[in-house]
Amino acid sequence: MKNKTFLKIIQPDDWHVHLREGDMMKVVTKFSSRINNRCVVMPNLETPITNSYLARQYKEHLSLITAGLNFTTLLPCYLIDSLDLEDFKLALKEDIFVGAKLYPINATTNSSFGISKIDNIFSALEILEELGKPLLVHGEKVREDINIFDREKYFIDEELQIIRNRYPSLKIILEHVSSEYGTDFVNENKNTAGTITPHHMMLTKKDFFYENSINPHHYCMPVVKEESDLIALRRCACSGNKKFFIGSDSAPHDIVNKETTSDIKPGIFSAPCSIELYAEIFNQENALEKLENFTSINGPEFYNLPINQDKIYIVKKEWIVEEFTIFNDIKVKNFYGGEKLKWKIEF
Ligand code: NCD
Ligand code: ZN
Repeated sequence: MKNKTFLKIIQPDDWHVHLREGDMMKVVTKFSSRINNRCVVMPNLETPITNSYLARQYKEHLSLITAGLNFTTLLPCYLIDSLDLEDFKLALKEDIFVGAKLYPINATTNSSFGISKIDNIFSALEILEELGKPLLVHGEKVREDINIFDREKYFIDEELQIIRNRYPSLKIILEHVSSEYGTDFVNENKNTAGTITPHHMMLTKKDFFYENSINPHHYCMPVVKEESDLIALRRCACSGNKKFFIGSDSAPHDIVNKETTSDIKPGIFSAPCSIELYAEIFNQENALEKLENFTSINGPEFYNLPINQDKIYIVKKEWIVEEFTIFNDIKVKNFYGGEKLKWKIEF
């Protein structure tokens, strides 16, 4: 596909995005809703979405912002140690929840209510398996003696493999896969898929550790890793491998929570240019013909949802990404802000 000047692809979905709440929700949702038909919206709010009541309330807030747009939000239930199983099962059956999200305790933003011991969610996993609904996993094991770069590997070995073996038909999505070890796990196991972010395919730990300190705008969970991991992720995404699909993990934080000396929030906000970043990566890998599989086909197939009908155009056109997203008191640094991209979505 050399010298291609435009791409016409099936409208994408984003299978992992943070739309937050309040003013932040108002300003960031527009970036996701203008491109995607569906977004899997993460439930890690300050009060995590752990039951159908909170889910209905959150969806109502979102629907006010997206009224009139062809945009659907899919919400996974935030799993907690003491889940109301009856409510959970009913909400899955009624499609209030698309599946469930496993946050290990204290692994990332707003995960203090997360799971302390996987045995505590076995009953919930049985329900998911029985109903054919997916388990979305933040795959990191947090323990003092585990290096931050090895959290994914330890989680796979000590937790995920147990779940995989115990519930063989359960659909599992290892979200924001960040290492070659993670891609190997996805490739080697049935009913297992992975989402890949643009930043894990663009950054390595050298971009995170910068001039003897860390660059807070490249700080996310899981942290970006080695060149060999980046190469493995690019290989899986760009080869058309059905087990991998889009999930930007666009995760906005106000600049005051990023440019601070203590308690820097992890998360990279890429929604203003995420689809163009993926196009750039696939172009670099000479794989533009596989972009549609990754952005628009593999995800719905794994979720067992219809593939979108509409098409979008991405044209070859240089543009500079805005540096910030600003609204009322909010100021968020955009990933790739101020940098040049060679592809742009056209409406
Ligand atoms: C996310 C957030 O800020 O909510 N942060 C991140 O670094 N990715 C949470 C998450 O997906 O882990
Ligand atoms: Zn996330």
